[in-house]
Amino acid sequence: LTTQVGIVGGGPAGLMLSHLLHRAGIDSIVVEKRDRDTIHNTHRAGILEAGTVRMLTDSGVDGRVLTEGHEHEGTVLRVQGESHRIDFKELVGESVWLYPQNEVFWDLAAARARDGGDIRWSVRDTEVLDFTTATPKIRFTDAAGEDFEVHCQILVGADGSQGICKWAIPQEERTDNFIEYPFAWFGILTEAPPSAPELIYSNSEFGFALISQRSENVQRMYFQCDPEENVDDWSEERIWAELQRRVDGPDGFQLVRGPIFEKTVLKFRSYVCEPLRHGNLFLVGDAGHTVPPTGAKGLNLAFCDVRVLAPALVDYFRTGNDTGLAGYSATALERVWKAQNFSYWATNLMHTQPGENPFNQKRRFGEFKAITGSERGAAYFAESYTGWSETSTP
Ligand code: DHB
Repeated sequence: LTTQVGIVGGGPAGLMLSHLLHRAGIDSIVVEKRDRDTIHNTHRAGILEAGTVRMLTDSGVDGRVLTEGHEHEGTVLRVQGESHRIDFKELVGESVWLYPQNEVFWDLAAARARDGGDIRWSVRDTEVLDFTTATPKIRFTDAAGEDFEVHCQILVGADGSQGICKWAIPQEERTDNFIEYPFAWFGILTEAPPSAPELIYSNSEFGFALISQRSENVQRMYFQCDPEENVDDWSEERIWAELQRRVDGPDGFQLVRGPIFEKTVLKFRSYVCEPLRHGNLFLVGDAGHTVPPTGAKGLNLAFCDVRVLAPALVDYFRTGNDTGLAGYSATALERVWKAQNFSYWATNLMHTQPGENPFNQKRRFGEFKAITGSERGAAYFAESYTGWSETSTP
């Protein structure tokens, strides 16, 4: 097989890149180890920055994000049982969209199928080779057991945080920056109407909870838990009691309960691979960097990488100019570190450290007040959450 750009990973980052390249007349092949239904059924965050939404609609993926998604002009920070609304629209003139990221994947997969994109699902034994030469290669075995080799000019690693591409870069050529957190999220899906019009990020003495949504009749909620927590130890009754006590307050706010049909523990880490390029191998999205879920930056950040890499590739293939490619890593990393900081900061602000010193808890509540009680503080949160403005992209 021969193509211009070989892409390892058919998640949102790989598919969006393949889609944008196709629109510019550049050929790519995507190989992905999972099948479409598995990715579609893998629940991820549900918040899209306005810039992410514009990428989907402006590039002709689908308008489903606008018809099925919901615009959220603000969010609620709830501290010690008191709600404070952060009005994104008023503070920074932007909003975000609630649209599940697995639906973003679905729309992209449909757009690639519609446009005749070459996506190989359910492949195994994928290897990347020769990426410091002019003819990088991807080797893989397809679902039917047949072996293939893709010959390309540029190789892109879009294979997520568990992928193979970043590990293919020699250790002495990359720096792995990472930290772990002593907590995780227990995530549920429930069949119930929304408990509130907007998302609620709540911090209580019992720890963090996030009351998110999916649709009129399905809701997504999370609560901070131990990374080793076993979902089978949690009955519906126990889950609801835990969520409720983390949002309890003098206003009497009550979660609307329903049957729980999904339970998962999400591990946290922050990771950045530097640089995001080695020879003719480029890393995009989670393959190059991971954020903890607080703030929902993961997919948005992956799209920012694509927004930098796609035009650089187009320029390279059309004119031979490799200035954009040469600058890719530094340009993308600038945004990555900004989002890393926000995700790290919001995580530490909103979570209770195991065995937390009361000083630190009270200090965090003070920090919350500095956000919720001040227009400038709230604007800082709003600007970061909505993804900084497009003019400063990346
Ligand atoms: C969701 C997840 C997040 O991490 C977040 O910050 C907001 C929403 C979600 O799954 O809905």
